[in-house]
Amino acid sequence: MPVLPQGFRHLPDLLDRDAQHVLAEEVRAVVRASPLYVPAMPGTGKPMSVRMTNCGQLGWVTDKEHGYRYQETHPVTGAPWPPIPDRLLDLWRAVADYPDPPQACLVNFYSAGARMGLHQDRDEQEFSAPVVSVSLGDDCLFRIGGTRRGDPTASLRLRSGDVVVLGGESRIAFHGVDRIYPGTSTLLKGEGRINLTLRRVTG
Ligand code: SIN
Ligand code: MN
Repeated sequence: MPVLPQGFRHLPDLLDRDAQHVLAEEVRAVVRASPLYVPAMPGTGKPMSVRMTNCGQLGWVTDKEHGYRYQETHPVTGAPWPPIPDRLLDLWRAVADYPDPPQACLVNFYSAGARMGLHQDRDEQEFSAPVVSVSLGDDCLFRIGGTRRGDPTASLRLRSGDVVVLGGESRIAFHGVDRIYPGTSTLLKGEGRINLTLRRVTG
């Protein structure tokens, strides 16, 4: 297996089952206030297979006309994003090694057939803060490479309760989700996977 990029951390099972349940309930409340929408690729308008929403002061959104960006309001409802749940702020304090709290929490929902192509997170001004991400529900096959698209990649299975930290060089490493393993978790009411991605956006 290729070497993982410097600063990449996989913390398996960091959230126990009770914590996962509470967090899943909090995500449901976020989605009630701020519904999942279908993001579209810049330029082509091709819909992504992952459905998204956000919580926090800023949310990451994308559509055909205006592309990848952060904004303070939901692109469909126009409402401000709900706040980031306290337990995610606690998690950030515990693992991020960064003095300021996250400004954005992207909520990705993967149904059984959804995936996310290899990409870098580079729409932020601040790369010294890590990206912290939490998995809930079905397992997925996560792929991580280097800072250039052609770099070798490594694949690892992420399970419900796992936390991944992209810090140091891995902050701008290419990564993606090749597939979901439907039915591998009983946490959520149906099949699927939730990923919560915490980020600093401004310097
Ligand atoms: C992302 O890169 O936005 C999501 C990664 C994941 O679903 O684990
Ligand atoms: Mn990403």
